[in-house]
Amino acid sequence: MVRVVRATPVELATAVQALRDGEPVAFPTETVYGLGAHAGYPAALRRIFELKGRPTTHPLIVHIDNARYLTRWAREVPEAAAKLAERFWPGPLTLVLPRAENVHRLVTGGQDTVAVRVPSHPMAQQLLTAFGGGIAAPSANRYGRISPTRAEHVREEFGAEVRVVLDGGDCKLGLESTIVACLDGQVQLLRPGSVTLSQLEQVVGEVQTQISAQTPRVPGSDAAHYAPLTPLSVISSDQLEQQVALLTDAGVRVGVLAQHPPLGTYRLTTWINGGARPENYAHDLYAHLRTLDKAGCARILVQEVPGDERWDAAYDRLHRAAAANAAEHADDNGPVAVGVPG
Ligand code: TXA
Ligand code: MG
Repeated sequence: MVRVVRATPVELATAVQALRDGEPVAFPTETVYGLGAHAGYPAALRRIFELKGRPTTHPLIVHIDNARYLTRWAREVPEAAAKLAERFWPGPLTLVLPRAENVHRLVTGGQDTVAVRVPSHPMAQQLLTAFGGGIAAPSANRYGRISPTRAEHVREEFGAEVRVVLDGGDCKLGLESTIVACLDGQVQLLRPGSVTLSQLEQVVGEVQTQISAQTPRVPGSDAAHYAPLTPLSVISSDQLEQQVALLTDAGVRVGVLAQHPPLGTYRLTTWINGGARPENYAHDLYAHLRTLDKAGCARILVQEVPGDERWDAAYDRLHRAAAANAAEHADDNGPVAVGVPG
């Protein structure tokens, strides 16, 4: 049975008042939880950057409840953007467009563009409608860390610092929205998500994927992002069990995220089978990484995901997590077994 997730009138009133007072409100979306602020309230926006520890040059997504308000945020809506909005909103797609004049620079990171999305989660919709304006919201995690897919993850990240957390249960999709820029007559994929490249191309024809110097800044696209604290490596399927055996034989406790159960028996191992279906894998990916991060392991090994485009978003996040760890632990002489890729 599908759980119907709605906020009570009291929860909703509390959240709306908090937003009007310039306080942050964490809320569920179908992708991940967002840390929301009144998009027209500079002090509230500043608080979001402070809480996350995120540089103010990194822009935020404006959430609205209906595409008809898009022109309040974008001064121009190219035909491709209108088609994408029509097809995928409400849903896990963010459009980057030329910004309207009054959009605050803390929202845009000082750029001439703005990112907008209409989320489909019923509680996000309720909140946006009751608030009656745009809510700027990054994912509700500390900068560079794993995005939250449950209310309890948000509480783990921020504790009492975020007083209002709307609990809408598990996020249905589990990975952040697909981001597409519609600028200068071009359509460019900036971040893969559950709306795939071929789904986009069915609607607008050719979509660029090459990141160029002109590409708008996407901090989620810094190589180092979405990372657990434990060093994480992505290991090819045929090497996985061998690496687990090598490490555990050397006395290293490992956490494994695979797409199947272990074939062998290993001591000192927390093995999670994320499954072979891309939707389920994405749904649970961040929760699994959090579990492994708390399992007292010295290393996390993740089995490489298939090349099929339905896995693109998971591929992207896992490789960023691995890159983040590589950067962070570059000077460590941590417990790395010989022959294991860093
Ligand atoms: O699914 C999602 O998109 C979630 C939920 C809460 O909506 N939000 C999310 O926000 O992932 P955040 O801030 O963690 O990632 C938003 C990404 C960032 O990488 C940011 O740089 C990019 O969107 N972005 C925002 N405004 C932009 C702009 N004007 N140009 C290019 N990228 C932009
Ligand atoms: Mg984020």
